[in-house]
Amino acid sequence: MRAALVAILSGLCIGKLQAQADNNPLPHLVTQDGRHALIVDGAPFLMLGAQCHNSSAWPATLPKVWPAIDYLHANTLEIPVYWEQFEPEPGRFDTSVVDTIIKQAREHNARLVLLWFATWKNGSSHYLPPWMKSQPDKYPRIIGKDGRRVDSPSPHAPATLAADIRAFSALMRHLKAKDTQHTVIMVQVQNEPGSWNTVRDFSPEAEKLFTSPVPAELLKVMGTNAPAGGSWSEVFGTNADEYFHAWSVAHYIGQVAATGKAEYPLPMYVNASLRDPLTPGPASKYESGGATDNVLWIWKVAAPAIDVLAPDIYQNDSARYLKVLELYSRPDNALFVPETGGTSGQARMCFAALGHGAIGWSPFGFDYTKYANQPLGAPRLTEESLGQVALNYRILGPIMREVARLNFEGKLQAVAEEKDELKQTLDFGNWQAVVSYGVARNGSPKGNSEPVGRALIAKIGENEFLVTGAFCRVDFKAASGGQRDFLRVEEGGYEKGAWRPLYIWNGDETDWGLDFSSAPQVLRVSLGTY
Ligand code: DGJ
Repeated sequence: MRAALVAILSGLCIGKLQAQADNNPLPHLVTQDGRHALIVDGAPFLMLGAQCHNSSAWPATLPKVWPAIDYLHANTLEIPVYWEQFEPEPGRFDTSVVDTIIKQAREHNARLVLLWFATWKNGSSHYLPPWMKSQPDKYPRIIGKDGRRVDSPSPHAPATLAADIRAFSALMRHLKAKDTQHTVIMVQVQNEPGSWNTVRDFSPEAEKLFTSPVPAELLKVMGTNAPAGGSWSEVFGTNADEYFHAWSVAHYIGQVAATGKAEYPLPMYVNASLRDPLTPGPASKYESGGATDNVLWIWKVAAPAIDVLAPDIYQNDSARYLKVLELYSRPDNALFVPETGGTSGQARMCFAALGHGAIGWSPFGFDYTKYANQPLGAPRLTEESLGQVALNYRILGPIMREVARLNFEGKLQAVAEEKDELKQTLDFGNWQAVVSYGVARNGSPKGNSEPVGRALIAKIGENEFLVTGAFCRVDFKAASGGQRDFLRVEEGGYEKGAWRPLYIWNGDETDWGLDFSSAPQVLRVSLGTY
């Protein structure tokens, strides 16, 4: 009798847990028709992120992180988990700091992207726990061409790989047990992996692999021209060193990610220190082995457990910024900008990223620890210097679910102002949206004194658009040739997915087009012709 009752009760419990799991699915990525969405709490989610400084993920420094995140209205904090802290002694894991971060994120209503600072951090291995650093022969660095050790971990080091796998698996196992409400939505596996100052590892182990046949998986994606059984030099000629290193680093990280995912399959990504997207030069000029634009295809084969290869965009000129967005938004790769600069010029690029279907965008160095790593990341922060990024998030925060969904459905276009391009035209079939910058009343566009303009337009019905932006004017032209008429222009917002108008724009507010300044305003526009 008792046994029967226990069986019924445990059946009910399992049923309840199952229902909870169905209501609260794991964050995951979906791809359809070459577009992507990050699903969080069962619906597309746009990460409006900010990353704190490298040494800010401690209980002592968190009080200086949260005020900046709150002020920004960022919905996601990207924050490191340090291997040296997480595994103070071999096999003993200290989850206290990650638990504190998760608890505080919930209190601040923020989601987390955890950055696993482990074997690689900016091409070096400075986050290895001291007990590993004190055994450099067991956990070796790379050997350069001249036979000297280079300050970069070897991707051909079985003991380091095994240790990283063990620690990362422990982290993922802990998240699975602890984070049942999915505060953590994504994990970055390592940080800007690869090597500076050498194109690859020249250790005896590496030399052996370098002269061995190129792995069959890689040859397969190259098609039939690739010579089977050829060594890296035979197959790839002058690119062999770099491609070999990319394969080695990616293959290592792919194994760490796959084992972590077997514990708890959150979306995982790798961030890349970029090469110049327009004039790259040789691999000696950038971090070799990382997911630079020329080796994305190698990373995709070598590390299938990594969902996204993500560019850290510190470029200051828009031609390069835009080129990077183009290179990393692919049918097989969701665009995610996990690090970028925080200047006003770079802030507008959040909209350009959305125009490429981005699932998230996140400037670096946003906390009040007073550390500044300029020209990378944010300047020493004050609320004022957070302004342009905060404006993005004030505009996009309340509509982020709609933006993520409309982008996934291919209905959204977004742009950032270009210095000498005073007007941009977005084609929506029966309508064209015309975005212009620096227009006074009925004058012609002159551009803003600094290019800070940005606009986002989504087609939500045959003649209906969702429109928002800053420092720009938006107007429409009918493909039919008829003259545009604003049937109704409502300012408002969404509440639980339903549009709630606040008031109607007309008269001066619509006679010359729809003008956006620094106020976070979202419009629903119905168009007709006469
Ligand atoms: C890129 C790295 O990924 C970050 O961790 C940080 O070091 C910035 N560069 C520079 O501050």
